Amino acid sequence: MLNSKQILILIKKIRWLKKKESPYKILEEYNIKPEIKQHMIRVSNYTEILADLMCLNKLEIEEIKKGALLHDIGKQEIPDELLNKFTKLDEDEFKEIKKHTQFGLKILNNKKYAKTRIENVILLHHEKWNGNGYPFGIKGKLIPIEARIVSVTDCYDALTSERAYKERFSHEKAMEILISESGNSFDPDIISMFELFQNKFEKKLKEYR
Ligand SMILES: [Fe+2]
Repeated sequence: MLNSKQILILIKKIRWLKKKESPYKILEEYNIKPEIKQHMIRVSNYTEILADLMCLNKLEIEEIKKGALLHDIGKQEIPDELLNKFTKLDEDEFKEIKKHTQFGLKILNNKKYAKTRIENVILLHHEKWNGNGYPFGIKGKLIPIEARIVSVTDCYDALTSERAYKERFSHEKAMEILISESGNSFDPDIISMFELFQNKFEKKLKEYR
């Protein structure tokens, strides 16, 4: 039986291990570019709201949030001139960008918190409901729900943020685009929920502006 001092040491050790292996730590370790880091933090916050609306349980929400926080970490390996290109990418350039999902998974390798849900988000957040996504072109409910959710929150943040090739869109314009892609890029049930509770996302968006 542990005494109170030993319990305290154990708690401290667990906290230290958690911190050492947390997704936040990886963001520091890899010195992630600030714009990618901020995008992943915002997507993680939107994802927490949407995963809760989709009735995922506490553990699932915790993991999907971590996955969202790291979902584009593989972009660290993609040259800046491709990421920040303001004209349309050609086929070869797009091929390079697409590799960020696999690069992300590689970076995550051997990390203690590399749970399946986290890996699914990183590898599969560009799959599309209609099967036209990447890297595998899987469709519908064969795409794990965690990746289907993050594909929506990722797109919402991309639309409402300024990029080298585009202005930031308003919440209303972003909603219009998300809804138009319901059943194409996105799971219609997830888009319905996002639309129904859009004020929650708009409120969060206002905090970032
Ligand atoms: Fe991505």
